Amino acid sequence: MNLTILTNLQKDNTMNILVTGGAGFIGSAVIRYIIMNTSNRVLNIDKLTYAGNLKSLSNICNNPRYKFSQTDICNQQKLIEIFDDFCPDIVMNLAAETHVDKSIVGSADFINTNIIGTYTMLEVSRQYYDKLDTFKKSQFKFHHISTDEVYGDLGDTQKLFDENTNYAPSSPYSASKASSDHLVKAWGKTYGLPIIITNCSNNYGPYQFPEKLIPLTILNALDGNPLPIYGSGQQIRDWLYVDDHASALYLVATQADIGKTYVIGGNNQQKNIDVVQKICQLLEELAPHKPPHIKYYKDLITHTQDRLGHDFRYAINSNKIERELGWKPKETFETGLKKTVNWYLENVDWVRDVKTGDYKKWLKNQYTIN
Ligand code: NAD
Ligand code: DAU
Repeated sequence: MNLTILTNLQKDNTMNILVTGGAGFIGSAVIRYIIMNTSNRVLNIDKLTYAGNLKSLSNICNNPRYKFSQTDICNQQKLIEIFDDFCPDIVMNLAAETHVDKSIVGSADFINTNIIGTYTMLEVSRQYYDKLDTFKKSQFKFHHISTDEVYGDLGDTQKLFDENTNYAPSSPYSASKASSDHLVKAWGKTYGLPIIITNCSNNYGPYQFPEKLIPLTILNALDGNPLPIYGSGQQIRDWLYVDDHASALYLVATQADIGKTYVIGGNNQQKNIDVVQKICQLLEELAPHKPPHIKYYKDLITHTQDRLGHDFRYAINSNKIERELGWKPKETFETGLKKTVNWYLENVDWVRDVKTGDYKKWLKNQYTIN
């Protein structure tokens, strides 16, 4: 046990929060939120796959309460050393392979990181938890961040997902996330590990890697490239602005009772085709100077072959987190989408580095184990 950290914890009531996948889209938003809005310390554990971008943390990376370690969540020995040194009060497990299309082409990384990686995090957490004293045990939480895709397809119905919806994943990605959720619940029930799970709908906002629908559409449109819509484009997603998700995750990690699950959504059901049309309209207003071969951005919309096993609709009933924890999203889809388009227009350096691959060279100040 690191006595300096424990003494500080008792004195100033700040916590040590270990975030996995913190160089990704949602993880970086969670870390920015914690560093900018609380006095807690954060250790970011990330393997830095193609989706990990430390530049997304450039505005907080020099804060003394933030540390980074390039570590694979499948590396049990290194994790044991990190846990013993950093002494986390809360673990927020976001590290994952996250892109459905990639999981259809090749699922090995999804099985490794999402299932074996979560298993490894659980085992290391369990062994660490068992060694804690009563006070530290009473504080410890393992918060697993998951997806609404574990519940499968709502189809053409009026139904919404809630905490009692049965698991019925469709893609290799969602099946791997469902597996991880089951492992987390088993470690809670069998070993008494204090766990919490959240299942969220589609996030959008700044710093999202342009493989996902919204940033892909914005950047393709600005470059005058086709805007692919899978199949009819009538599929529906429930969009949540990423900073609203980050505030929900912090609230759950710090306030929720052990063993609880919460679904989180934006109450923003949108058809894919409407999302792309809205981005095109916003770009007409915010970026009127387009490549010469285009009259209107919407002319770039191109219907392509549908995704295999494509779920038609996801939508969330967020009543439980609103009622029990008082959380509500701040952004509507209109305000959030405008902020997002503006962010991609203004952050040309981040966009350029992602396009060229230079984001991989971003300076890494590695955490060292004492
Ligand atoms: P992302 O793909 O942007 O980032 C994932 C991060 O995990 C990257 O930084 C990557 O380097 C890291 N990572 C991958 N494999 C790793 C490994 N083996 N060890 C350590 N780090 C590793 O993902 P995201 O969109 O920010 O999603 C974060 C979490 O939230 C995921 O668990 C995802 O399932 C969940 N989620 C995402 C959404 C969404 O709309 N993006 C919605 C609901 C839930
Ligand atoms: O619901 C939560 C999930 O949302 C997360 O768990 C996933 O990690 C995240 O990637 C996201 O999954 P989706 O598959 O819904 O997101 P994506 O942005 O890939 O696609 C959104 C919708 O748009 C989906 O119906 C497929 C469609 N699409 C996507 C792309 C990339 C297109 O029509 N064209 C495209 O080019």
